[in-house]
Amino acid sequence: MARKKRQPLAVPELIVRKREGEKLGEQEIRDLVAGFMDGSVADYQMSALAMAVYFRGMDFDETVAMTLAMRDSGKVVSLDQIDAPKVDKHSTGGVGDKVSICLAPIVAACGVAVPMMSGRGLGHTGGTLDKLEAIPGFRVDLSVREFRGQLRKIGCALIGQTGDLAPADKRLYALRDVTGTVESIPLITSSILSKKLAEGIDALVLDVKVGRGAFMKTESDARELARCLVRVGTLVGKRVSALLTDMNTPIGYTIGNALETTEALEILHGRGPDDLRELTYELAAEMLRAAGLVKSKSQGLRHIEQQVANGTALEKMREIVDAQGGDPRVVDAPDQLAVARHRTTVTSEATGYVTDIDPLELGYASMGLGAGRSRAEDSVDAGAGIRLHVQRGDQVREGDALATLYTSERARLRVAADRVGASFRIGKRRPRLRSRLIETIRR
Ligand code: URA
Repeated sequence: MARKKRQPLAVPELIVRKREGEKLGEQEIRDLVAGFMDGSVADYQMSALAMAVYFRGMDFDETVAMTLAMRDSGKVVSLDQIDAPKVDKHSTGGVGDKVSICLAPIVAACGVAVPMMSGRGLGHTGGTLDKLEAIPGFRVDLSVREFRGQLRKIGCALIGQTGDLAPADKRLYALRDVTGTVESIPLITSSILSKKLAEGIDALVLDVKVGRGAFMKTESDARELARCLVRVGTLVGKRVSALLTDMNTPIGYTIGNALETTEALEILHGRGPDDLRELTYELAAEMLRAAGLVKSKSQGLRHIEQQVANGTALEKMREIVDAQGGDPRVVDAPDQLAVARHRTTVTSEATGYVTDIDPLELGYASMGLGAGRSRAEDSVDAGAGIRLHVQRGDQVREGDALATLYTSERARLRVAADRVGASFRIGKRRPRLRSRLIETIRR
């Protein structure tokens, strides 16, 4: 049957209408996205529209339409043949955020299928794919067939976004990135959800980070984004919930690819930092709830603790690493992952308590050591990064080591060390500590 021909779009008129605060219709939004993909809507027009949306917003109907139009701009993976509930997690990005690496095998060990698609690091936040690639041989570029097969066989696959899932989002994000239109709640919502819906999930748990090291600096902005994600996700028929979590200090003690992977693997051994464990378990429990496997958070937490204590989660990680071409021995000896050979230590200039560690500064310092990218095409140094020796609230004496820096290029050390030194505050009084979890937002 011949495809219905689309009417030529009056794109300037749609831009003006959005600029004046009018609501666009579902078909208009679909046509705009389709036109953007076939070239009949120019990049400058889409950028102007993004700016109009930035100032005027979009209501839930428009955001749903935008989400579905972008999802449908590419392939939508069907995971219908997999019986287990399929649940993914998405984090809005933080410093030292290696949660996905320990979370996915734990949740899969509990009986949920985890089709986890992650991104690469850009700017001050690292990317799960770069961290996983610190495991020798680990492949993140599985085809959709391999992805589906692995999910069916072992219940989890950790892969990169393939180019044919939600390609409209990729193109639009590239424009938003250079036109000052990233920080728009409806655009962020449709961007995140379109990609996740294309994965074929039943449910999604969002980790919406808030604080200096996060995309959303204030609790009210983060809450608004979380509510929008939950509402739009629910309107498109998925079970979506969000955890607002604190990102005012780095997560755990490590920043940088191999260092973070080691720390995440430690969690599967029942070791590792308390804050990383808490965050991982909270998100995992929410995923079990979303999957319908448990009725309450406490039931979920008990189930998770069991899978870690009896070694099932660790065994799941061995299976994942083996299936994706990595060396599974790393799972049993995480500290064998190679770190870069040049290093220096930053020490405390005072005696007292660590009252503050600025994650943003550490994120940029880690990037400066080679662990991150400033442009998408840059490569990363897997062994570069920062190991903290203290966390906020710890007592230190003058001269105590605060952090060790690693890099493959010695010349990078000095500037990064200054930055790391400047990210610590030492005070006389022990600061009050609080949980990373601020709030859970459900429908
Ligand atoms: N992350 C995304 O995937 N999209 C956005 O628009 C912002 C953050």
